[in-house]
Amino acid sequence: MEAKLKCTPLLLLLPLQILLHASAQRGGIAIYWGQNGNEGTLAETCATGRFSYINIAFLYIFGGGQTPQLNLAGHCNPSANTCRSIAADVRACHRRGIKVMLSIGGGVGNYSLSSIADGENLSIYLWNNFLGGGRGSTSRPLGDAVLDGIDLDIELGSSQYYDVFVKKMKSYETGGRKVYITGAPQCPFPDRLMGAALNTSLFDYVWVQFYNNPPCQYTTGKTQNLMDSWIRWTSSVNAGKIFLGLPAAPQAAGSGFIPAEVLTAEILPVIRRSRKYGGVMLWSKYWDDQSGYSTAIVRSV
Ligand SMILES: *[C@@H]1O[C@H](CO)[C@@H](O)[C@H](O)[C@H]1NC(C)=O
Ligand SMILES: *[C@@H]1O[C@H](CO)[C@@H](O)[C@H](O)[C@H]1NC(C)=O
Ligand SMILES: *[C@@H]1O[C@H](CO)[C@@H](O)[C@H](O)[C@H]1NC(C)=O
Repeated sequence: MEAKLKCTPLLLLLPLQILLHASAQRGGIAIYWGQNGNEGTLAETCATGRFSYINIAFLYIFGGGQTPQLNLAGHCNPSANTCRSIAADVRACHRRGIKVMLSIGGGVGNYSLSSIADGENLSIYLWNNFLGGGRGSTSRPLGDAVLDGIDLDIELGSSQYYDVFVKKMKSYETGGRKVYITGAPQCPFPDRLMGAALNTSLFDYVWVQFYNNPPCQYTTGKTQNLMDSWIRWTSSVNAGKIFLGLPAAPQAAGSGFIPAEVLTAEILPVIRRSRKYGGVMLWSKYWDDQSGYSTAIVRSV
């Protein structure tokens, strides 16, 4: 009798715990920082405790023989070498276990890869100037901090040679240190410019932009298009984790904003069951400051 009582609840509880675990995956919030001087410093962003991943935005000129150039809006002036102090902020983020990527591309700029050699050359440049190569060099735009990886937000130019670039970037992943490759494709599948790069299966995190694209995003009161698109991405793209990329405020994008209560009550409980769910990506720190969005959702992510 006693043995039975001990045994029965165990048998019942085991599958239940597996179910509960499957429905309660924890994610993190990724955020873009760098395109507005009034969004606080990188160190302040990390000190909020709400973010697990930061994408420094953007390296907006590269490829075609151009010297790669950073634009961090009002934060600092790369040509006057005043962005080097961000190294201390990156280290402060690292002490909190936050991963910091350099985001290349963006909605404004002049970038395109013109050949295999051009794609490989960009990898070499980024490795030596932002990651583990060339440490101690005084020409590193963000000083001697070693970033965790490269984020691709390719919205302009051609789709060519980003697969070459990503493979070369990942080839630096030796000696125990990981080189993270992340990306922000638009939700129409496959992404027009990043599809071929994503097909390398080398991306660690993919934060899909479920905004500015009505056929695959949330529209007032309707979650179906977003949910269908989420399933498409999580079932088609071979990447470490997939994130739900969203505007942090209604004004942060042309369309696609999801009220925090809709996200936490109707959407996150469903998508958190995906094996590949990684969390939520927000554009951007500036807009998040205006709306308080990350504070409203962080406990549900
Ligand atoms: C490679 O990049 C450097 C700048 O980092 C540039 O001087 C050189 O011309 C580039 N080479 C090719 C083949 O594009
Ligand atoms: C990009 O740069 C190239 C060479 O520097 C120039 O010829 C081209 O007009 C630029 N394109 C844009 C859209 O600014
Ligand atoms: C990449 O793979 C997907 C299938 O997962 C396919 O639909 C797509 O056409 C492939 N190529 C490109 C360039 O996106």
